[in-house]
This record gives sequence, structure tokens and C-alpha cells, in this order.
Amino acid sequence: MKEKRVHIVTMGCQMNVYDSEQMVRLLAPLNYRPTSHLDKADLVLLNTCSIREKAEHKVYSFLGRLVRIKRLRPDMIIGVGGCVAQQEGYRLVERAPYIDMVFGTFALGRLPSLVQYVEDRKKRIVDISPRGALEPLYINGPVFEAERATAFVTIMQGCDNFCTYCVVPYVRGREVSRKPGEILEEIRCLVENGVSEVTLLGQNVNGYGQKNGHGCDFPALLERVNDIAGLRRIRFTTSHPKDLSDRLIDAFCRLDKLAPHIHLPVQSGSDRVLRRMHRGYSRDFYLKKVAKLSKVRPDIAITSDIIVGFPGEEAVDFEATVDLVRQVGFDSFFLFKYSERPNVPAARFSNKVGDAVKGERFSTLLEVQKELTLKKNKALVGTTQEVLVEGRSKKSPDQMAGRAPCNRIVNFANGADATACVGDILPVRIVEAFSHSLLGNPVGKGRGEYYQENGGMSNVA
Ligand code: 5AD
Ligand code: SF4
Repeated sequence: MKEKRVHIVTMGCQMNVYDSEQMVRLLAPLNYRPTSHLDKADLVLLNTCSIREKAEHKVYSFLGRLVRIKRLRPDMIIGVGGCVAQQEGYRLVERAPYIDMVFGTFALGRLPSLVQYVEDRKKRIVDISPRGALEPLYINGPVFEAERATAFVTIMQGCDNFCTYCVVPYVRGREVSRKPGEILEEIRCLVENGVSEVTLLGQNVNGYGQKNGHGCDFPALLERVNDIAGLRRIRFTTSHPKDLSDRLIDAFCRLDKLAPHIHLPVQSGSDRVLRRMHRGYSRDFYLKKVAKLSKVRPDIAITSDIIVGFPGEEAVDFEATVDLVRQVGFDSFFLFKYSERPNVPAARFSNKVGDAVKGERFSTLLEVQKELTLKKNKALVGTTQEVLVEGRSKKSPDQMAGRAPCNRIVNFANGADATACVGDILPVRIVEAFSHSLLGNPVGKGRGEYYQENGGMSNVA
């Protein structure tokens, strides 16, 4: 059978990165191999995101590019999957009739039969049926063409929180947790294939296992992942502050492989806005959780998501957010302008904030973010960080790049006698700090030798 090529364009969050890898695994039995060259692809899949309007615009502008290629190569199959597919369904093929296949978030497991259908019958197909969220979906096995040190593992899908601005519960459905045995098996398989670090993914990982009764909640799952031989680091994202239990906080002290970083989206520092967002916690509650985390693990890095310009956000609310950001001293945070999503409760809220005010608030907080992040990064100059080497640096190809336990990117020169390779955990002395990365010099040998000699102990000056 002729080998065919699939090119996948991943838009949006880490969940989509994981889903795209699943697509590669699912299509392997149909003789599809991944390619990074769009012009060589027999099948192009767009894995889309609809969390903000901007993400959706990207989909349509990419489709505009694809139509020109399709005119030259009419046999190329175009599929659109993910959240925009789920949300738009048939409207997508009406607007872009050259699309062959629309597969929503629940149809991922059915991708092979959908592709087969289009190949055999040369007809278009739309599958946005909400059946079968998880079951046939997860296939273990390597998909990586190159060596990889890190991987994502989805542990649950969907979300039950219904924050008033958010489209996720509508396009990804209710929370469904995977069985712990399946997750552990997948991680073991990744480790066998050279992966050193996994990031457990879910919209609200703290809610893991609470509905399905698999007899294992999130802290218990973390413990079992921590026991996997050969795995060296664990991360997870995203945690909802309202469900951040003391047991989970304690895990940062108990579990040696759990990296000292938590992404804890606060969204706003104003109680009034938090209530209208339906977040389920107050400013004070959030600050107390942060204090507990820092007490249990003083070196923990805390990052967040913040939305500016939520309907009804007044100057005083925004000031409360700036104040909270400074009080917590986030290591970093993602900043978003409120983006109106179809059919979510906030779309019907009055007192919308105008674009100009949103823009001003965004710029103000961006400045605060830059200042804070740079200050935090500078504080690491002179320390030695255990860097998990991920590959060549994007900044300069003669440098290697990896991540420190706190999740910061560290670039370092891999000089003549340097032995750093992908997957090593290497002590690197930090010599310079930038706003998005650190620069350092390795102070040990690569190939994991140093790490083993020191029993995996970190060596922070
Ligand atoms: N507008 C702006 N930001 C949003 N987010 C989710 N929905 C919206 C929206 N409608 C942000 C939140 C969330 C992150 C993933 O995206 O901050 O934590
Ligand atoms: Fe959206 Fe809120 Fe669920 Fe996060 S917790 S995915 S912001 S509804």
C-alpha cells in the first residue's frame, strides 16, 4: 500500500497538541505518516481552537491559504477538527465548500473511518455528534519522528465549571476522566520511548476522578505517576483554584518528581468580577491558597491567566487585579482581552468594556508582567538549575535549550566538550536573565551521568 502523508496544523492549547498526536497514531493503520511539509500532504488536518475570537479568525485565514493549494491539487483531502469544528459544524462547509471533512471534539476517535469514507466515496462528511467522548480515543505508542524529552498526557476531557465567558464546556462537553490504569500505561509507554517528563492535562485536573468513581482522585493519581520507574519529572495543568485541595498542595512537598510550578488561573483580582465570571472563589480565598503553596514549597513558581475588560469591569476592579498581581508576584502570566463568544452567559451581560479601555488595561498589565517576570528571572542569576534538555535552542542553533524545574526556558552553549543531549537533566549555572528565558553554562556532564551520580538531587546555590 502506498504510504500517504498527513500534515496537521495545531491551533490553540496543549490539549490540542495532545489531540494532534492522537490523530497521528489513529491514522498510522491507514498508512499515513506525518509530514511537516504542507505541499507534500495527501491529507491536511486543522486542529482548531475557539476559546477566543482571534483563534477562530486564524482558522478562516488558514483555510484561505489551503483553498489555493487545493485548486492545484484537488485530491488533497482537507479536514477541520477540534473546537471550531464542534461549534460551527455544517456552517464550516457552507462557508468553505472545499473542506472534505469536519470532525468535532467528540469525533476524534472516529477519524480513521471518516478519512476512509472520504477516500473511498469522494464525498464530504460532517461528524459533530456528541457520542463517544473518550473510549476509542487513546492509543499508546510513539508518534515522534525525533527524540523527545517531554510529552503531554490528557487525563480528562471537558469541563463542568461553566465560567460565564467560556466556550469550553459547550464545545468539549462535560468532565470525563480517563481510567487511571490507562493513563499509567500510556506514561510507561512514553518512558520506554525515551520521555523523561510528562505534563498531565485537563481543563480542571483537580476535578480528576471525582465524577467517574475510578477510585482515584488527582493527588492519588499523581502518587501513582510518581512511582513510575524511569520517569523523572511530572507537571500538570490546569488547576482551578476553587478545587485546589490541601492534599494536592502537600503533593508538592511529598512527591519528589513533581516540578515546583503551578499554573493557577485567577482571571481577576476583583470579587465582584469573580462572582460575575462564576469562578467560585474570592480574592482572599485565592491569596490564601497561594500562601499555602509557598509555605509547603517556598521555591514554587506560580503562573496564571488574567482576563481584562470582562463586561462590567470598572477601573476599581482593574486596579484590584493589578494589586493582586503584585501581591502574589506571579512568575509569569498569560494576559487576555475579554473576547465575546457565542451563546455563553457573558455575551448577554450589559456594560461591555470598549476596545480602547480594554487595550489600555491590557498594556498596563503587560508592563507589570514584564517587570515582574524580569525581576523573578534576574533573581535566578547565580543559581544552578537542573535543566531537562529538550533540544536545540530556537534563539541560536549552536545552543541547547531546556527547562528548569520552575518551567523557565534555559538556553546554554553546548561547547566542544559538552555532552548534553535530549533527555538529560543537566546542572546549568544561570548567568543572564531575559524576560522570556534564562542563559546559562552547564556545570556538569550530559547523558545523565551527573544526575545519576548525585542521586537526582538538585544543586541550587
Ligand atoms: N475571552 C478572553 N479570555 C478567555 N479565556 C477563556 N475564555 C475567554 C474569553 N471568552 C482565557 C481564560 C482561560 C484561558 C485558557 O483563556 O483566561 O484561563
Ligand atoms: Fe473554561 Fe472555566 Fe472550564 Fe476553565 S474552568 S475551561 S475557564 S469553564
